[in-house]
Amino acid sequence: MELPYAEPYKIKMVESINRSTQDQREKWIKEADYNLFNLSSRKVFVDLLTDSGTGAMSDKQWAAMMSGDESYAGSASFIELKKVVQKITGFAYFLPTHQGRAAENVLFSAMVKEGDLVPGNSHFDTTKGHIEFRKATAIDCTIDEAFNTSILHPFKGNINLQKLENVLHENPKDKIPFVILTITCNSSGGQPVSMENIKAVSNLCKTYGVPLFFDSARFAENAYFIKKREEGYQDKTIKEIVKEFFSYGDGMTMSGKKDGLVNMGGFIALNDEEVYKKSTVFTIMYEGFITYGGMNGRDMAALAVGLDEATEFNYLESRIEQVAYLGYKLVEYGVPVQKPFGGHAIFIDANKFVPTIPRNEYRAQALAIELYIIGGIRGVEIGTVLADRDPFTRKNRYPELELVRLAVPRRTYSQNHMDYIAAVLKNIYESRDQAKSGYTIIDEAPIMRHFTVKFKKI
Ligand code: F0G
Repeated sequence: MELPYAEPYKIKMVESINRSTQDQREKWIKEADYNLFNLSSRKVFVDLLTDSGTGAMSDKQWAAMMSGDESYAGSASFIELKKVVQKITGFAYFLPTHQGRAAENVLFSAMVKEGDLVPGNSHFDTTKGHIEFRKATAIDCTIDEAFNTSILHPFKGNINLQKLENVLHENPKDKIPFVILTITCNSSGGQPVSMENIKAVSNLCKTYGVPLFFDSARFAENAYFIKKREEGYQDKTIKEIVKEFFSYGDGMTMSGKKDGLVNMGGFIALNDEEVYKKSTVFTIMYEGFITYGGMNGRDMAALAVGLDEATEFNYLESRIEQVAYLGYKLVEYGVPVQKPFGGHAIFIDANKFVPTIPRNEYRAQALAIELYIIGGIRGVEIGTVLADRDPFTRKNRYPELELVRLAVPRRTYSQNHMDYIAAVLKNIYESRDQAKSGYTIIDEAPIMRHFTVKFKKI
């Protein structure tokens, strides 16, 4: 007898969310200068802005919070977290930071200098920001299939080995501090990297004497996809898969706000003692002493439990299959989305959804605004606004994809919410021909403009 799927948890605490009218939302989004980051969360019904730090902690994590050790130096919670990180990742050295980008800031301060090149698979925006801020260049070596939303490739986060080898071959070793592999790859649509690709990238790095680092924000989700999609891994546990892929690298940066299942936190883990020592100086300068690095003791305690929970199959199945449930609904309604579905989010292809809006009028942003106005749902633009201006020419960069990301917080919304989101999008899709114009920018920051940019309706 085949029974329907049900989540492997029940709910102990609930948080009310607010409904509003379309008229109210039209007024609110205008007041927010059409930037969804500017909206108060109380004006949002279903918040899919990010899956970062927005999930629900378990009863065991909350219990751990109560026994957090807030000592400035040598906190027991630090020691506990370090033990868990070493056990799960296999890396020898560990430095806590307050979140993922802080880990980038510390590590890159130790490793990246002006004129350097950092190859990778579609670097996340803060990663790219931290590279470009140091007057270095991030080189995207992702496979071309990643940029066609209708090609069904199981590992669209993969690196094109030829592209990577060209960079490694054509440049002196001292210009390439490391290769960074983002697992899963957020910027190409929450897409995983295969074990085979990780191994091949690792071999190339070894051949050219360049270290390999992982941007590991969603590493557990990546392991789930390897188990489901890659031959030879069906019978391995998530923890075994995780241990294997990290064994091919030299270190990692981590945002605990994703696969650490906490609201705030991050870390660096690595094998090279020299880089570790250099990094500790920047940790102390930017984050705090090396046994807390910007985190509360209780947050380190919750992260230790979260890392263990996130690397369990039953949790990952409920998490990733909920995202897929939303994806299948949207496909059923004809809405163009990135395929296969991402681990943490569904990405709507705005180039196919609203080709009637000119690209220089930010069509993905226009779609994200419509989604808010019609349904009170907050997604986020991953397109021209996020791609920012070229740091040298100051011209808009037009990425291959214009996406609206619907990031699903972990253990937070029900299947009814997924049905609701899909129904709202179905309605917008059915009247898409009426969308003719978008938005123009009236104010923007010189770097990472998407957080504070202001728009005017055309
Ligand atoms: N790397 C990846 C792949 C990320 O997705 C993020 C954050 C970071 C690094 C930075 O981590 O936020 O803890 O400083 N992504 C969030 C998102 C913001 O919405 O995708 P952080």
